Amino acid sequence: MRVIRQLSTSRRLLQSLIQKQKYQATTYARPHDLILSRGKNAMLYDDVNNKEYIDFTAGIAVTALGHANPQVADIMCKQSQKLIHSSNLYYNEECLKLSENLVEATKSFGGQYDSSRVFLCNSGTEANEAALKFAKRYGILKNPSKQGIISFENSFHGRTIGALSVTSNPKYREPFGSLIPGVEFLNINDELTKLDQQIGSSKDKVAGLIVEPIQGEGGVFPIPLDTLIGLKKICEDNDVIVIYDEIQCGLGRSGKLWAHSYLPKEAHPDIFTTAKALGNGFPIAATITNEKVNSILKVGDHGTTYGGNPLGSAIGNYVVDVIADQKFLDQVVDKGSIITDRLRKLQKRFPEQIKDVRGKGLMIGCDFSEAPSKIVEAARDAGLLIITAGKTTVRFVPALTIENDLLEKGLDIFERAVEKVYN
Ligand SMILES: Cc1ncc(COP(=O)(O)O)c(C=O)c1O
Repeated sequence: MRVIRQLSTSRRLLQSLIQKQKYQATTYARPHDLILSRGKNAMLYDDVNNKEYIDFTAGIAVTALGHANPQVADIMCKQSQKLIHSSNLYYNEECLKLSENLVEATKSFGGQYDSSRVFLCNSGTEANEAALKFAKRYGILKNPSKQGIISFENSFHGRTIGALSVTSNPKYREPFGSLIPGVEFLNINDELTKLDQQIGSSKDKVAGLIVEPIQGEGGVFPIPLDTLIGLKKICEDNDVIVIYDEIQCGLGRSGKLWAHSYLPKEAHPDIFTTAKALGNGFPIAATITNEKVNSILKVGDHGTTYGGNPLGSAIGNYVVDVIADQKFLDQVVDKGSIITDRLRKLQKRFPEQIKDVRGKGLMIGCDFSEAPSKIVEAARDAGLLIITAGKTTVRFVPALTIENDLLEKGLDIFERAVEKVYN
């Protein structure tokens, strides 16, 4: 009797929550009967429907240290009782510590060797906006027509007009008409000689080049190191500022602190951007520059009300301290190998359907011969949340702290979902 009463109460709650969905702007496609209530590390719970899920999405590569991380919760509680926000009219302790922390950890963990300055903001898109403005300013000071940006096919850099202007997907761009002028999309798979010729021929019009060292939304494509090394050389020869967008692939996701930590110092960026994992779910982001870029900036060139607020910065300090640790990074690589080994075995069983397994660390793509929407649905029905990337790829980006047995359990569900769809 009690069970029946509970069931009808939760059905009523579900119906009332579904009713409220009509107030959401029409921008997302979400399953209407999955409503999250809480999480714990790599688990998510829907208490309305009494269901639980292994989460291989981590809020799209955000909750790197797990859902409801107790240390993050403790920092939020303590910092919010001291100071949440004070604006950029004044310095605050946590913001100062985070900027130093990012620069010093970057240099200690093989990232941007000449790392120097940090601009703190609130989202990945905003971090890229700052990077684009800094690069344009650098170019304009050399020559007023040197203000274009080079980006790449298959890239994703965000949704504001500036970030969208350097995002290649026509589906996101075309509904919005004119975007910022002077953006050119090249093909990252072209020979370096061709890229050299393309960039060199427009050097008087190009201020910056933006690239994800591992393309995320486009389908999880790690850019070959030689390509990035070659691109940096071409940009230096043509006085073009190099921006690496590490919003998805940075902060331990690739198995190193930054995806560009795999590169020799000659290929390090002038600017790189980070967001997502930096706040473990709290909105905070950073644009990190060398002195070559910082030296052209003047007071008033850029700003944001919430950037570097004490609450976000305190969380960021904790996240950087945990991830900038060789042992932590090594276990990311080990967990990544568990996924790739199992996916490669699965590929042998389904060679017609699984075309490729690729990625680095815990950013892995499993590429299918068709859109994998039925697999995503079958996995969800069986208790695993996964996301797609590009048109045909399933993306694996779980919390970097996911327990090994949960990882294996999630992979069991994924295998069964593939079997269900293709057997
Ligand atoms: C590589 C990359 N750049 C930029 C962004 C935009 O970040 P945000 O959604 O925080 O604005 C994303 C988000 O998915 C991303 O993956």
